[in-house]
Amino acid sequence: DWTMGKFREEEIAKVRKQVGTGRVICGLSGGVDSSVVAVLLHEAIGDQLTCVFVDTGMMRKGEAEEVVTMFRDHYNIKLVHRDAADMFINKLDGVSDPEKKRKIIGATFIDVFEEEARNVGGADFLAQGTLYPDVIESVSFTGGPSVTIKSHHNVGGLPDRMNMKLIEPLRELFKDEVRILGRELGLPEHFVGRHPFPGPGLAIRLPGGVTREKLEILRNADVVYLEEIRNAGLYDAIWQAFTVLLPVQSVGVMGDARTYDYVCALRAVTSTDGMTADFYHFDMEFLARVSNRIINEVKGINRVTYDITSKPPGTIEWE
Ligand code: XMP
Repeated sequence: DWTMGKFREEEIAKVRKQVGTGRVICGLSGGVDSSVVAVLLHEAIGDQLTCVFVDTGMMRKGEAEEVVTMFRDHYNIKLVHRDAADMFINKLDGVSDPEKKRKIIGATFIDVFEEEARNVGGADFLAQGTLYPDVIESVSFTGGPSVTIKSHHNVGGLPDRMNMKLIEPLRELFKDEVRILGRELGLPEHFVGRHPFPGPGLAIRLPGGVTREKLEILRNADVVYLEEIRNAGLYDAIWQAFTVLLPVQSVGVMGDARTYDYVCALRAVTSTDGMTADFYHFDMEFLARVSNRIINEVKGINRVTYDITSKPPGTIEWE
């Protein structure tokens, strides 16, 4: 019968057979999926694997450093780290349409990734952390009526352009299975248990335009919220939790001064595969604590709201 241990062995054997003496490139995003792919491939083919981490500048606080430390220093995986934050922020300047943001980030990502892949001498294969829900969502998006709810970017188009074959060892797995595989491969628990994080990152948690100032405010609020969630022991019970910085300013009063700052929305949902989701039922004391801390500690925010929309009809992200 089927076990994750067997799956791991079979995938490793498959990859070795498929790759032979070829070279593989893998885009690392800092998320669970691409991390599991990288570690699995490293186990299968060692130094024939090069990982490329494109820092879009849309990541959470400290995340880029964490990725580099873990893969380069801990796992000894060949890793190219490209800090492209300025490029992404400049290209997003003045853009507020969610799909335009995704397309700009997707296209820029591909350009930068391609350049770095060329810099390391190219490869025969591209490894991706595509999951089963990605496979079916994109099929129904393109195969069904011409409705695109959201264009999940990953790196579509790249394999053709660069003449690379695709390796997608997670294609048959759901997220919870990827986590089991990650544990099987010895990835640290705090990494395996990480909430999913979208490719376009914080850009789609800033409705309206993306600016350095707003990114900074959003990052600071996110840290406080997630710290409280972890302290309350709720992190693992939640599928995804994040803050959204609304493009709305509201009037407040702090001490004896009037404030006019941004509104922050808190989002937390439970889900098993991200296709449907319920908002998380926090107790009011928890929400009050988060609200007080964010307003007191994060410069630029003077009001906090909680999003009680489930999916459907809402989506998990706001954009
Ligand atoms: P939604 O917001 O559509 O999200 O309910 C479902 C899951 O997908 C993630 N998500 C994305 N992931 N690129 C990604 O790689 C994207 O453009 C994107 N949009 C949403 C979202 O975080 C949730 O886990």
